[in-house]
Amino acid sequence: MNAAEVDLDRLVRSATARLGRAGVPSPRTDAELLTAHVLGLTRGELTAALLRGAVLDDVTRRRWADLIEQRAGRVPLQHLTGRAGFRRLDLAVGPGVFVPRPETEVLVEAAVAELGAGVIRAEPSPLVVDLCTGSAAIALAVADEDPRVEVVALELDPAALRWAERNVAALPAGERIRLVQGSVVGAARGEGVLADLAGRVHLVVANPPYIPAAAVPVDPEVADHDPRLALYGGGADGLDLPAAVIETAAALLRPGGLLLMEHADVQGPATRALVAVGWEEVRTLTDLSGRERVLRARRGGAG
Ligand SMILES: C[S@@+](CC[C@H](N)C(=O)[O-])C[C@H]1O[C@@H](n2cnc3c(N)ncnc32)[C@H](O)[C@@H]1O
Repeated sequence: MNAAEVDLDRLVRSATARLGRAGVPSPRTDAELLTAHVLGLTRGELTAALLRGAVLDDVTRRRWADLIEQRAGRVPLQHLTGRAGFRRLDLAVGPGVFVPRPETEVLVEAAVAELGAGVIRAEPSPLVVDLCTGSAAIALAVADEDPRVEVVALELDPAALRWAERNVAALPAGERIRLVQGSVVGAARGEGVLADLAGRVHLVVANPPYIPAAAVPVDPEVADHDPRLALYGGGADGLDLPAAVIETAAALLRPGGLLLMEHADVQGPATRALVAVGWEEVRTLTDLSGRERVLRARRGGAG
């Protein structure tokens, strides 16, 4: 080791301590992922490098130190690496777009299972609509895992839409996704941007903004870095946009078509109440810890 080199293992341990003091929830994991990122390694390759006592040159160490300081300032890990894993995909993310969350993978899993069951299983090309698509995480994951589907994905925010465009262009499943800019409010009515799809859609998926106005997120990664437009659902209970999703889904879905919509764990009863009329098989799906997270409802009238 020459004077300009520093032992990698010592650096990872000092970064872990620094991130821990800053309140980062998983300091060792983040220290390893940022170090691997700087070196252009996978996490497994980093483990091997640590075991063989690898060193970091001075230039790389300065880049590394800058990233660790930003993470200690609670910039989201995914903004620093520019990537977010979601189901089988590696998505581009950064400032201006909501970072896809592991809990939303529950919704994708349910969507893929529904597409493989019942009458929709025999459909050669089911039509799926992803409302409030953000990075296009749900749209891309569903298209990736079911090669039959065509997806139309709607997003209001032009900044988020640019990230969606980038992901759609980068991934093979993106060939079956059409991005549309506009609001979910009234999207399937009259001159709405999705009015041409009314009554034709097999499955609507959505992870809309749903946080109540007064429930300001505590984590700085969320409060300071996720776009406000992605968080707050509108109205005191945060359910204005979820209600708009349900109204638009009601118009888009063919009889017997299915809606899957993520919501906050306290919003199970209120979201079920929103589908009391004109819907069937209303259920709420739970996450791994048993919390109510996804509304599932089938559009009536299939006979
Ligand atoms: C919670 S984020 C979810 C993003 C993505 N579906 C995911 O799960 O990672 C909600 C998204 O809805 C978008 N949005 C907010 N208001 C909207 C509206 N009125 N119409 C359409 N999209 C909207 C936000 O810009 C944001 O990208």
